[in-house]
Amino acid sequence: MDIQRRKIVIVGAGHVGSHAGYELVSQGLAEEIVYIDVDRKKAEAQALDIFDATVYLPHRAVIRAGDYSDAADAQFLIVAAGPLPDMRKGQTRVDTLRQTIDVMKDVTEGIRKSDFSGILLNISNPADVVTHYIQHQLNWPSKRILSTSTTLDSGRLRRALAEATGVDQKSICAYALGEHGESQMVPWSAVTIAGKPLYELQREYPDTYGKLDLKAIADAGKAGGWTILGGKGSTEFGIGASIAQVVRAIFHDENRILPVSVLLDGQYGQRDVYASVPALLNRHGVAEIIELNLTQEEAEQFAASCKTMKENFQLSLTL
Ligand code: 2OP
Repeated sequence: MDIQRRKIVIVGAGHVGSHAGYELVSQGLAEEIVYIDVDRKKAEAQALDIFDATVYLPHRAVIRAGDYSDAADAQFLIVAAGPLPDMRKGQTRVDTLRQTIDVMKDVTEGIRKSDFSGILLNISNPADVVTHYIQHQLNWPSKRILSTSTTLDSGRLRRALAEATGVDQKSICAYALGEHGESQMVPWSAVTIAGKPLYELQREYPDTYGKLDLKAIADAGKAGGWTILGGKGSTEFGIGASIAQVVRAIFHDENRILPVSVLLDGQYGQRDVYASVPALLNRHGVAEIIELNLTQEEAEQFAASCKTMKENFQLSLTL
């Protein structure tokens, strides 16, 4: 009998990597987590800190520092390396592209040599473009390489909608799509509450739903990351939980639909671009890309978002 341990390698032991590891361990989603970081002492320290926590957590797990050879028998590899945007310099996520690609050159080299054959989840920003770069460098089937991307922004959007409507965020289905960044868009035609389209609710209840300021809500969702970064210099809990959702969907073979960044191949009229769309996730990774029926205006916003990501991907290849 061959009972496999669920092993996850996390490249990058900074804010995002450490919170991802803690979340995965807390939710019992791995028996072994290995940290790789250019700063070996930091990787060892984060691993030890989380390992200590497991003594009082419900699930047993081993957390340690390692190297790329550890990826050979891991089922999951999370890339969370590279800088956070520096708000004091007015940076957006895209402004970190050059620095992140520098880091990704070594990361993709390490992964290529590692015999890793599982699913790769990239978080490093600008997430969609960097995920495309990784897929391009490794040349693996795209269903094995994805990014959380707007999983996080969609959570922030649902939180903003919950605040505006008074309905619990878990009862709201809403997606931010396109880029995990400034060009993201919200397909309002696909937002539902209790199965009812939001647009229908707005007609039925003109004094409540009808008065919602959809642009302000979309902006509040998009601004979530900046509000957090401005207040404490990093974002970590929201992304940690988003990562755990994606890992759970894949490890548990859930066939769960989440907004994640995937390589589009004709869907939404787009090709050769990583963009966030709802996708069905199971043990094979990205099993299916769901195509929403966007309105003309939404399709144009989505196309504009894809255009900027395509341009930045081309730029990434020259760096
Ligand atoms: C976030 O949105 C900064 O991409 C990071 O939390």
